Amino acid sequence: MKNYNITVIEGDGIGPEIVKEAIKAIEAAAAKEGFGLTYDYQLMGGAAYEASGEPLPASTLASAKAADGVLFGAIGGPQWDNLPREKRPESGLLALRKGLDAFANLRPTKVYDALVDASTLKPEVVKGVDLLVVRELTGGIYFGEPKGRDETRGFNTMVYSVEEIERIARVAFEAAMKRRKKLCSIDKANVLDVSQLWRETVDRIAPEYPEVEVSHMYVDNAAMQLVRNPRQFDVMLTGNLFGDILSDEASMISGSIGLLPSSSGGAKGGIFEPIHGSAPDIAGQGIANPLATILSGAMLLRYALGEAKAADRIEAAVETALAQGYRTTDLADFGAKEVCSTQEMGELIANLIAKA
Ligand code: IPM
Ligand code: MG
Repeated sequence: MKNYNITVIEGDGIGPEIVKEAIKAIEAAAAKEGFGLTYDYQLMGGAAYEASGEPLPASTLASAKAADGVLFGAIGGPQWDNLPREKRPESGLLALRKGLDAFANLRPTKVYDALVDASTLKPEVVKGVDLLVVRELTGGIYFGEPKGRDETRGFNTMVYSVEEIERIARVAFEAAMKRRKKLCSIDKANVLDVSQLWRETVDRIAPEYPEVEVSHMYVDNAAMQLVRNPRQFDVMLTGNLFGDILSDEASMISGSIGLLPSSSGGAKGGIFEPIHGSAPDIAGQGIANPLATILSGAMLLRYALGEAKAADRIEAAVETALAQGYRTTDLADFGAKEVCSTQEMGELIANLIAKA
């Protein structure tokens, strides 16, 4: 039987609760498709800092590098907010992304019919939205040099090389080919030199994908268009900082941040995590929504392991559960026939997969 090695990072806050349910779904799908998985549990973030003084211990990075994929919950919490930046939980995540060269961050936003009312935007605006932010994740202003600060000045550098732009653009074009074949590249080329290079490079790659309709949009306009008419977007290609901001905005179109998964991939493997945070306020109560992590498990199967059928099984089960009115408390006001705990939702999804 084929077997895959997965590094599991539960993280902080609700991380352990939601990851546990995602593994049930992955196991159910693997059983159906006839492959196995071995899990190596590792620490990152606040939990790792408490155990070792480092937010990303060397053993975690080594395990992740050797694995076929990383399933990750969430990190952070108020108790670590005052640590020096390099010790903060977020620094662990940034170092893991960089260490794995996980440059391609895919953040889908999908509005489920059963949940159109959950959005703060009008149902007629959000119904049918299905877009994908492809965010460059290991470059740009997050990592650019020079950077620094003293008492009176602080600075960072937004820098991209042609190679970095080309490789993320190709990921976005490939994604568009599998979707509705529309790509909108986001930049600030009216002001920034780095954005001019970005735009030129995307245009130079475009003829390799003649079926894809390419457009360019300034980031400020894109922020506006996302709430004005989000259905116009299929794939949005962005640099690191613009994608950080726009993907948070896009996530709220669906109204249910507890449903959105993400993947951060490179040449091999990748990190698969819900886009929401560690929600320390509800940690340990058994009420967190595990669906974003379960769907991240589906992305892991699809993108890191190439097990598309198993991924389809998980996604179909989530759709069924929502259509049947099963909701965790975060979505209890939106068409709930039955409100379930984190664990009940996880078991429901695993059962739906097993019975399908
Ligand atoms: C995200 C987060 C991270 C980022 C933080 C936690 C470093 O906001 O994954 O979008 O800025 O990339
Ligand atoms: Mg963010």
